Amino acid sequence: MSIWIVVPTYNEAENLESLLQRIFSTIDAHVLVVDDASPDGTGQLAERLRHRWPQLDVLHRPGKAGLASAYMDGLRLVLSRNPTAIVHLDADGSHPPELIPTMLDALATTDLVLASRYVPGGTMGISPHRRLISAVGNWYIRGMLGTQIRDWSTGFKAWNPVLLARVLATDLRSQGYACLMEMNWRALQADATVAEIPLFFSERRAGDSKFSLNIIWEDIRLAWQLRRSR
Ligand code: GDD
Ligand code: MN
Repeated sequence: MSIWIVVPTYNEAENLESLLQRIFSTIDAHVLVVDDASPDGTGQLAERLRHRWPQLDVLHRPGKAGLASAYMDGLRLVLSRNPTAIVHLDADGSHPPELIPTMLDALATTDLVLASRYVPGGTMGISPHRRLISAVGNWYIRGMLGTQIRDWSTGFKAWNPVLLARVLATDLRSQGYACLMEMNWRALQADATVAEIPLFFSERRAGDSKFSLNIIWEDIRLAWQLRRSR
């Protein structure tokens, strides 16, 4: 029985080691890196780092297949390992792993804990342009899917495994980042309790964001479809 932390990676070689260092010095947990054959060698680097950290595991996927399937594969794999809690976060340093103990404390009394940019104390040290996209996106999704959740698109969460197994009992409809919203939606449909902990979201340390217009478009469409299917 242990805590599992899932980290999806695509070209995060410059960020991975320092992230793992921070995770393992913060908490006693297992980490699963889900790598999509990153051309920059993130997957091989992760293999080398396993010698240093035996609690590190790597799922190698044959090619870039999108964030939704990376999360489905990774989260289902750790669910099969009898975890007490499951956490996931970006590999790039914008999600501080030092917040994980606070999230796990909150998980003792809730089913799903979100590290949130949109509750008091939460904030964003990123470009005004990305901040605007995120703020407008979340405003739209709240209008479509409800205000019980403030930060619908955060990628930093802690899950009760029983709830997560229910949420992933069937494949997600989304392919990209919209999976984050879709999983929240399924959690609410399952009458889960959700708590949001303030997050200081900072700019990625190195490398490039995989964020694109397609992602925004999928979010807009899926929020609309989920609302109609209610
Ligand atoms: N395995 C795998 N496959 N990992 C991927 C893929 C993929 O196809 N695409 C992205 N990732 C990994 C990245 O390497 C990173 O660790 C994480 O998923 C998120 O990707 P970023 O490129 O860092 O996204 P972002 O920081 O621009 O987007 C942030 O804002 C979004 C909107 O608010 C993230 O916090 C998202 O979680 C959030 O939805
Ligand atoms: Mn990121």
